[in-house]
Amino acid sequence: IQVVFIDSAGERREVSSQEGQSLMEAATMAGVPGIDADCGGACACATCQVYVDAIWLPLLPPVGEGESSMLEFAANRQDGSRLACQIRLAPNLDGLTVTTPEFQF
Ligand code: FES
Repeated sequence: IQVVFIDSAGERREVSSQEGQSLMEAATMAGVPGIDADCGGACACATCQVYVDAIWLPLLPPVGEGESSMLEFAANRQDGSRLACQIRLAPNLDGLTVTTPEFQF
């Protein structure tokens, strides 16, 4: 499953990931900058925020309760904001494109 991270400066990084990994794990294993993931994926830090491209949003599972309350703390939250650790990668997300924030908090 290929996922694409675009950083705040517009640089594009394509990453290969496995089904079942989270988007945060895919990013950190590939060394994508801009995803801090301080809590290691426990949905407790909001430093894995990404901005999901509008065309991909409908394919993602809805924002969970825990994710929603953590996003309240995220810096520069936008309409497409999601926590990357809460997005499980599946074949239908091949090509998923997200932008990483300039800073996480
Ligand atoms: Fe901490 Fe996602 S890694 S909320």
